[in-house]
Amino acid sequence: MTLLVTGGAGFIGGNFVLDWLAQSDEIVVNLDKLTYAGNLDSLKSLQSDARHIFVQGDIGDRELLAELLVKHQPRAVINFAAESHVDRSIHGPGDFIQTNVVGTFNLLEAVRTYWTTLAEEDKAAFRFLHVSTDEVYGTLSETESPFAETHRYEPNSPYSASKAASDHLVRAWHHTYGLPVITTNCSNNYGPYHFPEKLIPLILLNAMKGKSLPIYGDGQQIRDWLYVKDHCSAIRRVLDAGRLGETYNVGGWNEKANLEVVKTICTLLDELQPRADGQSYASQITFVQDRPGHDRRYAIDARKLEVELGWKPAETFDSGIRKTVAWYLANQDWVENVTSGAYREWMSTQYGAKS
Ligand code: NAD
Ligand code: TYD
Repeated sequence: MTLLVTGGAGFIGGNFVLDWLAQSDEIVVNLDKLTYAGNLDSLKSLQSDARHIFVQGDIGDRELLAELLVKHQPRAVINFAAESHVDRSIHGPGDFIQTNVVGTFNLLEAVRTYWTTLAEEDKAAFRFLHVSTDEVYGTLSETESPFAETHRYEPNSPYSASKAASDHLVRAWHHTYGLPVITTNCSNNYGPYHFPEKLIPLILLNAMKGKSLPIYGDGQQIRDWLYVKDHCSAIRRVLDAGRLGETYNVGGWNEKANLEVVKTICTLLDELQPRADGQSYASQITFVQDRPGHDRRYAIDARKLEVELGWKPAETFDSGIRKTVAWYLANQDWVENVTSGAYREWMSTQYGAKS
């Protein structure tokens, strides 16, 4: 048995591949373009593991996909590949349309062609699992109920609009062609191997380097945080038992304002690696210009996944964030490697003007 994972050198895909192979001997074919966000360093422990087959390539490359699908005959495709950073989508939306919309379309078409060739039994067992985000639902006021699967799609950023488009394509390929798809819409993830352009790893990295900790606007925007390994366990559960054509929201009921998240990280760093001058890392907090169109609040109602499939996260925010801070402190080599020239260029584009 074989899985084809796309985007498996990124943050969530990488954690998924590592967790999968820690629990199963089923081969993983990992197709990743290795954009700035793809990092084979995260998969170093699998370097000589025959169960992991890495292929550098684009989900938009139908010829390559056809070849891989015929050669490896996967029983499922899990699509993590995407451009994933809201701020980058504001600076340059083109790549988001190309990968998230056109790329998903090409992937669906390649998978559909392969799927139609399968024997009836394999066809029925086949799954296309599309990994998406809660951001497709738009933003919530302080008093609105968390997003359920029935919430209207109201994406506000080029990133969320491109993910919404991909979700619609996946849905249509099920309704029109019968492709056995399932979509998951997850809240904000955090944990090991997170590229330091996103809030939590960026704050950790800047804190350790004695740099300012940039908070957009008033820092009262709310995100619903899930430890990445809990997202991976949810995907495994949905792959096993999710109903075809359905969507499942994934979240751990951990709504936090950004400022609170940053202060929690500072407190943990004060405990685990105190600053030489005895001051708190919180003294590095700086309020900077807000993100255009910044969504105020995301929150996930995960009851469908909990009740129907019996999934529960293993970590609370307190336990997950402690593990995450400890991981970054213990893995300085990974951090050094990831902060390449391209990363430094991004930091000056994004924060040079803001601060
Ligand atoms: P990431 O940016 O860390 O990784 C994306 C990976 O996809 C990278 O390895 C990159 O090289 C690869 N990739 C990009 N374009 C590609 C292409 N055209 N062909 C093949 N590979 C390509 O993203 P992530 O945070 O790991 O997110 C993975 C998925 O989960 C995305 O679809 C994202 O929308 C979704 N998601 C992310 C979060 C989050 O908090 N990070 C939350 C919910 C859902
Ligand atoms: P981010 O990690 O980019 O995820 P998303 O935009 O997909 O939710 O940002 C999380 C929150 O943190 C979001 O409200 C924007 C905010 N933020 C900052 O305040 N400062 C920063 O430097 C970054 C990157 C994000």
